[in-house]
Amino acid sequence: MRVDIVSIFPEYFAPLELSLIGKARATGTLRLAVHDLRTWTHDVHRTVDDTPYGGGPGMVMRPEPWGEALDALAPAEAPPPRLLVPSPVGVRFTQALAHELAAEPHLLFACGRYEGIDQRVLDHAATRMRVTEVSLGDYVLFGGEVAVLVILEAVTRLLPGVLGNAGSLDEESHAHGLLEAPMYTKPATWRGHEVPEVLRSGDHGRIARWRRDESLLRTAARRPDMIAALPPESLDKRDRAT
Ligand code: ADE
Repeated sequence: MRVDIVSIFPEYFAPLELSLIGKARATGTLRLAVHDLRTWTHDVHRTVDDTPYGGGPGMVMRPEPWGEALDALAPAEAPPPRLLVPSPVGVRFTQALAHELAAEPHLLFACGRYEGIDQRVLDHAATRMRVTEVSLGDYVLFGGEVAVLVILEAVTRLLPGVLGNAGSLDEESHAHGLLEAPMYTKPATWRGHEVPEVLRSGDHGRIARWRRDESLLRTAARRPDMIAALPPESLDKRDRAT
């Protein structure tokens, strides 16, 4: 997968050298390039923002540098990337959207700062590529950079060959609309706390049932919205008793 990121703070993306994302880059699974938006400014101050039309606090990112950046990274003659713009007014980022993005050949992230990017940049881009404004949640960050780190991590771990054990993708939280059950490792007793007996029983049927029950209880307690969204046919008789 090819990924381009445009930001006025390219240094934010230094962690993308590390760990499994760094490895995905080294193996060529992820071809990532970070671009400084100011490359596409032409004044001595390399200005990227201005005051908002209509008044109000803060500054808005000017359309000209963004227009040139998108022209350079998504030229008309090449297949268009999917443009992602992190923003508190975007659609909610979910595991389902992470899967959708992991299937794209080319993602282009535009990191806004201040009060956001002039709307015409997105409207114009939408005439030649798919544009998705994405929100991490109902809170406001300084800019899109940290959101891109989050989105890219969620997407990269879904790319084929990135996770050593692809089975963990199937069992993890949000894979089936439920939160994962608690996990334990050795020692069996630690500071007086025991690992649940069932997990040490070697009885795979009982273990699977216990994990399913814990998963349902945890989800009901912490995320009733997820329980409400479960299709009824995804529950079996034992689940209903829980
Ligand atoms: N930029 C500012 N706030 C944001 C949020 N909640 N999600 C994604 N990008 C953002």
